[in-house]
Amino acid sequence: MKSYSIALIPGDGIGRDVTGAAWSVLQTAAKYAGFTLAGTDFPWSCKFYKDTGRMMPEDGIETLRSFDAILLGAVGWPAEVPDSVSLHSLLLPIRKAFVQYANIRPHRLLPGVTGPLRAESFDILCIRENTEGEYSGAGGRVHQGTLDEVAVETSIFTCAGVERILRFGFEQARTRRGKLASVTKSNAQKYSMVFWDEITRKLAAEYSDVAVTSYHVDALAARMIMAPESLDVVVASNLFGDILTDIGAAIQGGLGYAASANINPDRSAPSMFEPVHGSAPDIAHLGIANPIATIWSGAMMLEHLGETAAAGRVMKAVEATTARGIGTTPGKDRTEAITAAVVAALT
Ligand code: IPM
Ligand code: MN
Repeated sequence: MKSYSIALIPGDGIGRDVTGAAWSVLQTAAKYAGFTLAGTDFPWSCKFYKDTGRMMPEDGIETLRSFDAILLGAVGWPAEVPDSVSLHSLLLPIRKAFVQYANIRPHRLLPGVTGPLRAESFDILCIRENTEGEYSGAGGRVHQGTLDEVAVETSIFTCAGVERILRFGFEQARTRRGKLASVTKSNAQKYSMVFWDEITRKLAAEYSDVAVTSYHVDALAARMIMAPESLDVVVASNLFGDILTDIGAAIQGGLGYAASANINPDRSAPSMFEPVHGSAPDIAHLGIANPIATIWSGAMMLEHLGETAAAGRVMKAVEATTARGIGTTPGKDRTEAITAAVVAALT
C-alpha cells in the first residue's frame, strides 16, 4: 500500500485544533482511497521557544527535508513571543529553505456560505510569490534607541524569482479560464515593479493563449470587491499577495474558509500546506475554530501528492457539509461537529 510521510506542525493557538481536525479527515480519506498517511508530530511553536529558546531545533529544516509534505496549523503567540521572532524562525524559513516559491490561495464561495458581496460566482486563484520581494529580510537598523534611529528594509526582486512565479501563473491560467492578472505598483515603484511588468510582457509573448492584464495593486484590490467574477488567476509579489489574499478570504466568507499551499513546483523539497488564518489566541482551545480552511489545505496536499481522487472526495465532503449549513455561521458549530460532518460525508 502506498504511504506518504507527513510532518505535522500544529504550532500555536487554534493551529492545534484545526490540524487535528484536518488530520482525521485526511486519514479517513486515505483509508477509503487505499493509501496511508504516516504523520510525525513536531511541537515547534512559541511554547517550544519558551522552553528551549528556539522555535525549532537547529537541524529543524534538515529534519523536515525527508518528508513528502508538511501540514502546518498556525504560528504566533504575540503576548509571549514577538511575531517578528516567531515567524522569522519557523514559518518563513521553511518557505524559503524549501523553495516553496508559489503560495497558492483559492478564493471562491463554498455552497451554503454567505459572503459579504452581491457577487457569488467568482473563482479566483491567487498566486503569491513566497520567497523574496518584500519578505526578503534584507535590511537593518542603525543608531538604535536614539532619536537618529534609521530603519531600512529592502525588497529584493530577482529575474529568476519573478520569472518563475509568473510562469507558474501562466501555466495555472492555461488549466483554468485562460486569464492572468499580473499585479504591481509600477506607477509608483519605478525599479522593481517596472521590472516585474517587463517580465510579464516578455512571458505574455510566449503564452499567447493566455489573456494577461497588468493591474496596479490598489485597483486590483478594488476589483476583487467590485467585480471578483472578472478575475481568474492573480499573480502578485509576496506582500501584495499577502494583503490581496486576506481580501480573498473576506469575500469568500472569512478566514475560516481560506486555504493555502506553499508549493515547491520542482519537488526538490517538501511543500507545505496551511490555512491562511493565524493562531487566533483569543479563541484558542475553546473548540470553536472553523477547521474548513485547514481541511481544504489538506485536500490541496493530497492533490500535490498525486492523490487527485481523494483530494476531490475531501472537497466534495466539505461542500456537502457547508451545503447543509454546517460550519457556515461563525461560532454556531464546534470544531468537532464540523469535522465529524465532513468525515461522515466522505463515505
Ligand atoms: C500568511 C500570514 C503570514 C504571511 C504571516 C503570519 C507572517 O499572514 O500566511 O498570509 O504574511 O505570510
Ligand atoms: Mn497573511
